[in-house]
Order: sequence, then C-alpha cells, then structure tokens
Amino acid sequence: MKKLKFQSPTGMHDILPEDQKYYQRIYDVVSNIADFYGFGKIDTPIVEETELFSKAIGLATDIVKKQMYAFKTKSGDSLALRPEGTAPVVRAFIQNGMQNRPQPLKLWYFGPFFRYERPQAGRYRQFWQFGFEVFGEKNPVIDTQIIQIFYNILQELKLKNLVVEVNSIGDSQCRPYYKKLLTSYFKTREASLCSNCKRRLRENILRILDCKEEKCQPVKAEAPQILDHLCDECHAHFKEVLEFLDEVEIPYNLNPYLVRGLDYYTKTVFEIFPEGDEEEKDSKNALAGGGRYDRLVKLFGGKETPTCGGAAGIERIIGLMKSQKIKFPPEAETQLFLAQLGSLAKRKSLKLLGEFRKAKIMIAESFGRDSLRAQFSRADHLGVKYTLIIGQKEALEEVVIIKDMKTGKQETVKLDKVIEKIKRKLKR
Ligand code: HAM
Repeated sequence: MKKLKFQSPTGMHDILPEDQKYYQRIYDVVSNIADFYGFGKIDTPIVEETELFSKAIGLATDIVKKQMYAFKTKSGDSLALRPEGTAPVVRAFIQNGMQNRPQPLKLWYFGPFFRYERPQAGRYRQFWQFGFEVFGEKNPVIDTQIIQIFYNILQELKLKNLVVEVNSIGDSQCRPYYKKLLTSYFKTREASLCSNCKRRLRENILRILDCKEEKCQPVKAEAPQILDHLCDECHAHFKEVLEFLDEVEIPYNLNPYLVRGLDYYTKTVFEIFPEGDEEEKDSKNALAGGGRYDRLVKLFGGKETPTCGGAAGIERIIGLMKSQKIKFPPEAETQLFLAQLGSLAKRKSLKLLGEFRKAKIMIAESFGRDSLRAQFSRADHLGVKYTLIIGQKEALEEVVIIKDMKTGKQETVKLDKVIEKIKRKLKR
C-alpha cells in the first residue's frame, strides 16, 4: 500500500463516529455521579506553565523527565501540554479564590491529556481522563469516597472483575525516615538491582518498589515495608480508610509496592485494575489511580488544604468495555425516512425536516441521492416503520405520501398535518 502523506502523530488517534458513543456513555455516567456527590465541573487550559508540573509531580519522575511536551512560546514563556489534571486544578483552585468558598469544595474534569510515552496497547501520547478532586477535607472518609466513586463508575459502565489496590505512603512525619531505611537497605544490595533501579536509588527511592524487572523482585520482597513504619497519625488514617472500604463492601488488596508515579501524594494511594495476569498488573494498565495529596495547595502558595482525588483513563476503560462486549442501553431507533424527488420536493423536504427536528422526532434522509430506488433501499436498510415521500406532484399539491413499510399501504396527508399524523401513528 502506498504510504500516506499525512498520518496522525505517533500515539495519537482520531475518535471516529462509531466510537463517540463510548465517550458519550462514559461522560453521562461520570457527570451523573459527579452531580449526585456535589462535584462542580471545571475545565482548565490544555497548556500550563511547565514549572507547575515539575514542581507538583516531581523533577525526578518519568512524567516530568521524559514525558512532557514542553516548549517555549514566541515571547519566551515555558509552557507544557498538560500531562495530568491535578496540578492545573489546584492552580485554578488557588487562583480563583476557591479557598474562601465553603469547604469541602469538590471539582471534576473530563478531557485530553498528553504524555510522550512509548505507545503500546492502552498507552497513548494523547489520551482522555476524567478526574475528581476534593479540597478542604482531611477525614479518611473522603479517601474512601473517592475510591468508591471510581469503583461505582466502572461498575455502572458494567465492567466486571475489578481489583482495587490500596496503600499508604505516609507523610512528611514518617516518610523521610522510611526512605532512609529503604535507601540503606537497597544500597547494600545495589549490585542485584536493574540499571533503572540503580538510578532510582539516588533519585526516587520509592519507585524501586514498583519495578517490574525480574532481577529486582527478590530484593524488593525483603525490603522494609512502609506500613510497618507509618507514624501514628498516618496509621490511624489508613486504618479508617480500610474500615470504610469494608463498610461499603468494596473488595481491595493491600499492595505495599503501590507508590504511584507522581510525587505529590501523602497517605492513601490507590489504583483500580481489570482482573488479569498478576505479571501484567502495573500502573501501565491501571484503569484509575489517585490518592491524598495534602501538601500540594501549600506548595503552590495557597493555604494549608487537605486534598484527595483520582483520575481514570478513558481509552483503557473503552478497551475493556469492548473486550468485555458491554452493551449500551439501546439507542433511539430511527423509525422514519424522508424520500424526495425533484428540486421543489427537495426544498419542501428541507423545511419539513427542520419541523421534525423542532418536534423532536428523529427522521432519516438521503438528500444526496436523487433516485427514489436508492433512497428506498436506504430506508429498508435502516428498517424504518414509515417512509414519507414527496415527489414533484406531491410538492406542487403540498401533500406527503406516508408509506407503511411493513404492509406497503400508502396514504396521502396534507404537508402541514404530517407531523401530527406521524405523532399519532408512532404512539400506537
Ligand atoms: P495517573 O495514574 O498518572 O494519575 O493517571 C490516571 C489514569 O490515566 C491511569 O490510571 C490510566 O488509566 C490513565 N493514563 C495515564 N497515562 C496514560 C496513557 N499514556 N495512555 C492512556 N491512559 C493513560 C494522574 O494523572 C493523577 N492526576 C490522578 C489523581 C487525581 N491523583 C489525585 N487526583
């Protein structure tokens, strides 16, 4: 095949008409749940200052080091396509004075995000996420509610076999000590680590815990676990999160290796996966992830504000909906077809079509085709109940023929009465 002159950028894809229904369905479910729990929708710009992300996500993370689409504008500003939604929403929260509104303040979003990753199944360079963020509530009930919201959305989308993984990564009281312990543990075993982990040893020690390299597994297995080193406050917080999860009957696994790829988290972190091969279960195929990030608002210059949230990958959800062959509520079927012949009839049909739209009655047409035969075959293909026909004679006489497609019976109706007539027929 001849190579096309232009293709979509690597890792980015078109959303074709046949796939729009998935996005729409997910949007509907997410926005309903957001309304129910009192979240207000927010849209932030697609680009932000690059530093917003490097400060929030962390300079040593893969997202900031390798995956940002960062660029300089003509006037020299450093901007980046947003790789995630939390940092922009926190920026917007502070900038728009939302700290002074009644708390907790809850926001949700739905849109495209960008990461320069190596594309593979379920991993794109432009992908869609929806996310929820709660500001101003430190109670662990919110951590559980966030997990519950994502779990409920995925269930409402009829996805089966979901696995929730949770962990606590402590806070500024207990994590520094744990990191020290971890560093001295891994340092004595540096020779047994993969080359990536050797680098992480210096740059991002926690990330060694979610390394998937075979070589690192035995070393990891013996490593000190954060849950044994949480301070009293983090320990009590996490215990309550788990108790609430039991209460709402969400099954979960404690995963001491779950650390997440973004640096802003404190205390609870979670990810939701489709059940499957244990080996394949890493953040690369998580459907959703998130947690608490109590320091971020302060880090951006706002007031101390406890915060918790999560985001889900829409392409991954759609991939699973397709592989689990999930059926949608049936779409409204088109029951009518409008066929026309000649230019006067076309004009009358155009007007009539507009009137059907105002009356909120779906009616299909094929104005591009002039032959009645081709139009009838389209009506047959759609399986409509009635075909409305306006030929030259009908157009002159201001009437329409209504043909019952099952019986073949036809009746002629005045043009200005046709909508009422059809309404009655469809009601029957
Ligand atoms: P994240 O885990 O980086 O978290 O992304 C959330 C979800 O987005 C992932 O679980 C995955 O489903 C999807 N995702 C991420 N990268 C890709 C990709 N390259 N291709 C397809 N899907 C992808 C965050 O972004 C945090 N902002 C979540 C959060 C909100 N934490 C607190 N609040």
